[in-house]
Amino acid sequence: MGLFVFAAATFLAIFDITSAAVAPTTTLNDGRQIPILALGTYGGNGDKMRQTINWAVEAGYRHIDTASIYENEAAIGQGIADVIARGLVKREDLFVTTKLWNDRHARDQVVPALKESLARLGLDYVDLYLIHFPISSEADGTDSYIDYLETWKGMEDAKKQGLAKSIGVSNFNSQQIKRIIDNSEIPPAVNQIEVHPAHTRERLVANCHSMGVVVMAYSPFGFLVPRESSAAPPPQANDPTLVRIAQKYGKTTNQIVLRYLIERGAIPAPKSTNKDRLKANIDIFDFQLTPEEVATISKFNVNKSIFDYDTQKNHPYYPFTE
Ligand SMILES: NC(=O)c1ccc[n+]([C@@H]2O[C@H](COP(=O)([O-])OP(=O)(O)OC[C@H]3O[C@@H](n4cnc5c(N)ncnc54)[C@H](OP(=O)(O)O)[C@@H]3O)[C@@H](O)[C@H]2O)c1
Repeated sequence: MGLFVFAAATFLAIFDITSAAVAPTTTLNDGRQIPILALGTYGGNGDKMRQTINWAVEAGYRHIDTASIYENEAAIGQGIADVIARGLVKREDLFVTTKLWNDRHARDQVVPALKESLARLGLDYVDLYLIHFPISSEADGTDSYIDYLETWKGMEDAKKQGLAKSIGVSNFNSQQIKRIIDNSEIPPAVNQIEVHPAHTRERLVANCHSMGVVVMAYSPFGFLVPRESSAAPPPQANDPTLVRIAQKYGKTTNQIVLRYLIERGAIPAPKSTNKDRLKANIDIFDFQLTPEEVATISKFNVNKSIFDYDTQKNHPYYPFTE
């Protein structure tokens, strides 16, 4: 716990929380800067996604999170081309993250897969390339058993070729990250995992921080927003505890949950394709929660994921054990 508090405090100490609409940055273990709020994009596509990128950059977002499996890299690339052509930003002002899908885990498949993502995005590098899952699959989705250490060598190749400025993982547990660190040249810079009030992942977040790995929090709203899963635990958007905290700061409960993740030293990646909600989700840098409020929100934890990964639980690289 002490280590976690220290890591979170270190994370918070290095950015100015009163700065304007553009999200502050923190430093990765390879020395590069990463904005501490990302735009989630899963489920958005086509002209709507292109428009979303325009609205998001206007609102101050500089970090965009996608993946080859989202099938929206081309639309995001068009949005990026728009905002650069409009003079809103230069390429180097943006931080673009994408992910390697499970069926390209052989070392010699990694760089070609990234080049395909880059072609769709219309970019010559991404800022961050992540292994989406430690578990590999065949093209038809059935399990395969490629060791993620082999995949990681391909990620190192991508970084050395300048195609990915930083490299990391997603959905890995601490033992898997430690195994990469112990057996590789370059440590992962990031682990992108599900974190929200009903699934706080305190041990995993603390372990990542102690290994120098920055945590990105996906599905940050947890069960505050409708999910496919029928049994939604608290908190939901009208939860009285969250409403009380939100009223104190003149914010919404969704904003409180994003700020909670920032206080915990995680980088939330909220998804919205709605102009007003995009603006609201980045309007979280003019207040801070108290440690007591953070602890109160953490008490909602019931270790409940919004996803059901049970079909994979007998795989040797199944990560959801922590
Ligand atoms: N690495 C992985 O395995 C992994 C897995 C899942 C997700 N991700 C990443 O994380 C991102 C976020 O996760 P997610 O999309 O699952 O969930 P999320 O961001 O927690 O929630 C998205 C939902 O919340 C709604 N919403 C957004 N802002 C809101 C607000 N201020 N008030 C009320 N509702 C709001 C959105 O609708 P509108 O669009 O209509 O606003 C959408 O239905 C993904 O898009 C993806 O980039 C990564």
